[in-house]
Amino acid sequence: MAQPYDIVSSHKVSRSGSFAANLSFNQGMSLSTSPVLSFHSPPGSQSQSQSLANLARTKSLKPFQTADIKVLLLENVNQTGIEILEEQGYQVETMKSSLGEDELIEKIKDVHVIGIRSKTQLTARVLEAAKSLIVIGCFCIGTNQVDLQAAAQHGVAVFNSPFSNSRSVAELTIAEIVCLARQLTDRSAELHNGTWNKVSAGCWEVRGKTLGIVGYGHIGSQLSVLAEGMGMSVIYYDVIPLMAMGIARQVKTLDELLSRADFVTLHVPELPETKNMIGPDQFAKMRDGSYLINNSRGSVVDIPALVDAMRTQKLAGAAIDVYPAEPKGNGDYFNDSSLQSGKGAWTDDLRSLKNLILTPHIGGSTEEAQSAIGVEVSTALVKYVNEGTTVGAVNMPEVSLRGLTDQEPDHARVIFIHKNVPGVLRKVNEVLSNHNVDKQMTDSRGEVAYLMADISNVRQPEIKDLWQNLEDLSSRIRTRILY
Ligand SMILES: NC(=O)c1ccc[n+]([C@@H]2O[C@H](COP(=O)([O-])OP(=O)(O)OC[C@H]3O[C@@H](n4cnc5c(N)ncnc54)[C@H](O)[C@@H]3O)[C@@H](O)[C@H]2O)c1
Repeated sequence: MAQPYDIVSSHKVSRSGSFAANLSFNQGMSLSTSPVLSFHSPPGSQSQSQSLANLARTKSLKPFQTADIKVLLLENVNQTGIEILEEQGYQVETMKSSLGEDELIEKIKDVHVIGIRSKTQLTARVLEAAKSLIVIGCFCIGTNQVDLQAAAQHGVAVFNSPFSNSRSVAELTIAEIVCLARQLTDRSAELHNGTWNKVSAGCWEVRGKTLGIVGYGHIGSQLSVLAEGMGMSVIYYDVIPLMAMGIARQVKTLDELLSRADFVTLHVPELPETKNMIGPDQFAKMRDGSYLINNSRGSVVDIPALVDAMRTQKLAGAAIDVYPAEPKGNGDYFNDSSLQSGKGAWTDDLRSLKNLILTPHIGGSTEEAQSAIGVEVSTALVKYVNEGTTVGAVNMPEVSLRGLTDQEPDHARVIFIHKNVPGVLRKVNEVLSNHNVDKQMTDSRGEVAYLMADISNVRQPEIKDLWQNLEDLSSRIRTRILY
């Protein structure tokens, strides 16, 4: 441990099926609760009466040429997410567990929307069998479990929830700052083992100390506010200039941050540039007796260098929530150094160190985060199913059009997902040429392009012909018409 020293110093829409089915479904609604509002209006930006007025004007769009929307939710998706989908009148089936590939292939055949968490593998083989599938919701942070390219090639959008747990991570970080400064976990472990060890040497208040935040995004900026609330002085380093929360100050270089901060906390994404961004050279530049917290990604810190910095008492403590290699499930992982293939037996090294808080990637693991993930992903699914909006999709270009209103009764929204090849727009516009195209937006991502157009003066009997003419284009991946 370092010698003590004085460390001074932020819907409702509808479903498809036969046209008659849509009509009867809508007859029960008094107001449209289009998620446009809930998505684009920050809380408090509109009065309730304004919101209700807008809701009344927003037109519910109906997916065309699919059966009633069937939703399959696996892996115990949070109740908040289930309720949003059920409120739409979709047929929602929930399962507590994941399904194996063969079971999934059988089950997914007539499903339009699937919701999964991290265990279900949506492979190219599964997606090939998913003939009715239009959208996937990953009720989690990562999307590695989905073959994103295969999904895009089948015209299936994928949504996740990367930022719903930002607050949870920020709060954990605050807790760790205090615990490290007070050697709290060591004192607790000692007493669990029967040892009364009342010490004040090397224990500090955090008030007045400098917190250095590396990566000032969703988590870093939340943390900044919380830390200032506790009387800390906040500096941050980011690759882009970012407006400070409160009175925090951005520094120009990582080195400057390392040399000034009493606590360094990492909140950067996993990128080639952030791999081992904290290694021997960076530890050398940190203040003697300072602290390091890594709640970002396991690749960001060079673990052997961290072990050295702890053993030489360069650091007075550290908190690590993420590791270069992590197990898929709960168990005896840190007892089995052979599992750390090619990385050395760093689990033993880490476990031997004092004032080192080790947690099993729980930064974002709270009830609130799970609930927020449910809301965010289900809302994105509803917006995609009902309005065709791809904002937030991880495998499709992000396209959005403002909602149609009740004053536009003969309008239809055409969605044409197609191969990104020359000449498509001309052919689509030929198909649409008997109608006025009120607005149109198209964008591409790799081999797939997404076109949305709102057309007027559409009589209902014409919709099926429009759909068929688009389906007949050779570039077509998937056609949807909402009306
Ligand atoms: N421990 C957990 O359970 C948990 C939970 C959620 C997120 N995370 C991780 O936390 C990290 C931050 O998440 P976030 O939601 O705040 O991300 P974010 O994308 O909102 O913010 C990341 C910030 O890092 C900056 N950045 C990128 N490269 C940088 C570099 N080389 N140097 C300095 N800054 C750089 C970006 O400009 C951005 O401002 C991610 O790695 C994420 O995977 C961990």
